[in-house]
Amino acid sequence: TADKMPPLEGDILVHAEESKEGRPITVADLSTQLVRAWAMGKDEDGNDVIRKGDPNNILALYRFPQGQLVAPTNLEATVDGQIVAYSDICTHAGCSVSDSDINAGQMRCPCHSGEYDPKRGAIVTGGPPPKPLAQLPIRQDGDRLVVAGFFLTPPYPYHNSEAEWNNV
Ligand code: FES
Repeated sequence: TADKMPPLEGDILVHAEESKEGRPITVADLSTQLVRAWAMGKDEDGNDVIRKGDPNNILALYRFPQGQLVAPTNLEATVDGQIVAYSDICTHAGCSVSDSDINAGQMRCPCHSGEYDPKRGAIVTGGPPPKPLAQLPIRQDGDRLVVAGFFLTPPYPYHNSEAEWNNV
């Protein structure tokens, strides 16, 4: 069903935090602190649907000052080299990743202390995760942030099974 589909091109990014869930995310809402998001698309009848039926669809958004986002981040898939979106699901065993309260500027997984660097393509900087968080291409459309294409690499839980991913 539409609510379980992964983020698709043309979807709008909306807040996942309960107090403002479903509200479109604007550039001004974002900073160097993680903001969690869902993609919102349309169902078969053309009604808005938040794609949160699969918890693995949760996203992590950041906005960094110009020049701080660097390779291997795919800058073409960011907004102005400043706003980046990743899957927020740890590639180790699927927990939701947060800002680290231990290592400033890093992301940290609460389950087994996996760490990622959101300024460098969410590469693994510590712990057991086998690969970076998947980056989701985004673009800006007026006040809104819009999904610009499919994840650049298969996010958890699909990264071990290309066949499974292709069935999504
Ligand atoms: Fe994230 Fe294990 S699930 S480190």
